[in-house]
Amino acid sequence: MTRLNSQLQQDDVPLELVLLIQSLMVGCKEISFRVGQGALTGVLGSTSSENVQGETQKKLDVISNQILKDVLIESGHVKSISSEEEDDVVACNPEGKYLVSFDPLDGSSNTEINSLIGTIFSITHGTDGIQADDPSGFLQPGTQIAAAGYVLYGPSTMLVMSTGNGTHVYTLDKTQGDFLLTESNIQIPADTAEFSINMSNQRHWEPNIQAYVADLLVGKEGPRGKNFNMRWVAAMVGDVHRVLSRGGIFLYPFDNRDPSKPGKLRLLYEASPMAFLVEQAGGMASTGETRILDVMPTDIHQRVPTVLGSKNEVEACLAYTK
Ligand code: F6P
Ligand code: MN
Repeated sequence: MTRLNSQLQQDDVPLELVLLIQSLMVGCKEISFRVGQGALTGVLGSTSSENVQGETQKKLDVISNQILKDVLIESGHVKSISSEEEDDVVACNPEGKYLVSFDPLDGSSNTEINSLIGTIFSITHGTDGIQADDPSGFLQPGTQIAAAGYVLYGPSTMLVMSTGNGTHVYTLDKTQGDFLLTESNIQIPADTAEFSINMSNQRHWEPNIQAYVADLLVGKEGPRGKNFNMRWVAAMVGDVHRVLSRGGIFLYPFDNRDPSKPGKLRLLYEASPMAFLVEQAGGMASTGETRILDVMPTDIHQRVPTVLGSKNEVEACLAYTK
């Protein structure tokens, strides 16, 4: 079976980026181990602090964030880091070539129920002349991504990653400690009959999303002429993994609960890396108005409405929003 390193070499990934990804995976393997220990080592439950998003931090959020910071700083290839769990960017090596954004433990409330969680990451080139502690280096559209992916801590630990040459799936062989290629160049089916949205927010959505979902719910008797199934893991990594594996549409649209938050998902370390993977697998990812990868960030913790997945279904949804 092909190892992660061999695949990266085959895809002509520059050596420094390969080394950076290797370091990142050392961190993710440690997170996988710590997550697996669960209640045995007292890592479950919350801390008494909140992150910049106003969310209570879980102990595993803080542990995972620290693990990733340590390995990335040590790698020497990273100029700076932006993380969901850090208010400001973390300056690393001024000579480092790359910027790394990550959500260290997406869906961390799922740790309470021993359900799916994961690490989402995005890697871009640093810009010459911008200091390591300056957040403006991160304000680049997703089209500039050099590599993006996630590690899913599920029944097996999987890495799903793209360096711009298709989206590949690797499974962690825990006996050897290697990520082995288990599926290359995955393709999301263009059509689907499965959607994923937090229905409890229905009354807060804009009328166009209300109309789209209402038409899915009436199924065969409605304008879509077919029945739709619904799934919600409540961890973006879990829902996007299902979409990448068998198709589907995933939405976290704008809602009017808090007008200062245009959607829930963060552009740099949630929406954008997932959009990159989805596009590399033949799918589509949009804010409802624009291609997610074209959005120019204005803030490292910026939120965007997100619609992604099977191409024809995303287009069907966009027909309601435009
Ligand atoms: O990180 C934000 C997040 O936890 C995503 O992983 C997930 O898709 C979403 O929020 C879940 O939102 P809700 O709490 O509305 O189910
Ligand atoms: Mn998250």
